[in-house]
Amino acid sequence: MFKRFTHAIRDNFIIYVDGEPVDACEGDTILSALLSEIGFVRLLELKPEKRAGFCLMGACQDCWLWHLSGERARACTERVLPGMRLSTSQPGSVR
Ligand code: FES
Repeated sequence: MFKRFTHAIRDNFIIYVDGEPVDACEGDTILSALLSEIGFVRLLELKPEKRAGFCLMGACQDCWLWHLSGERARACTERVLPGMRLSTSQPGSVR
């Protein structure tokens, strides 16, 4: 769905989502990194349906993830940082 055109001129690094490494580029939002690399952001809570955000601009609330510290991360408005560790479910919750 998403194709990067400028990754060769930006710093590349790894972030982790549910412990899995995901390639990211400086300046990416979390959502753009995930859609570029794995094609979705999380699974729906009620059934195993992939979610990819909807509005891409902070309005629909479809792209929430969690930092391992427990803080929520809106993937479409928060930029990646090297080594960032995220979870697709609330840390400490039972799935
Ligand atoms: S994609 Fe809509 S709030 Fe993030």
